[in-house]
Amino acid sequence: THVVTENCIKCKYTDCVDVCPVDCFREGPNFLVIDPDECIDCAVCIPECPANAIFAEEDLPADQLPYIKLNADLTPKFKSITKRKGALPEADEWNGKPDKLQYLER
Ligand code: F3S
Repeated sequence: THVVTENCIKCKYTDCVDVCPVDCFREGPNFLVIDPDECIDCAVCIPECPANAIFAEEDLPADQLPYIKLNADLTPKFKSITKRKGALPEADEWNGKPDKLQYLER
């Protein structure tokens, strides 16, 4: 599966959802996740993300491994999103900031 990682938090650009052929993105207040049961590993979303937040599971940086479980756990709580809706207002300021997990809204 593919996994949305920490740098999506407080950015949520949503460019990724427009290209997903199976509509597997789920939206929370300030983060998206990928439904691991729906993702077909096509990888087209990876270059679309301005925050470089999406990785194939096997390519995840070591410190982002907890996001495999986080994507799976939040999938049933978040709502389906299939159309780009624009980034959060301060996305460009938060893009690349470290330690954003503390700001994740569930
Ligand atoms: Fe998040 Fe990147 Fe999509 S910031 S909403 S994974 S385009």
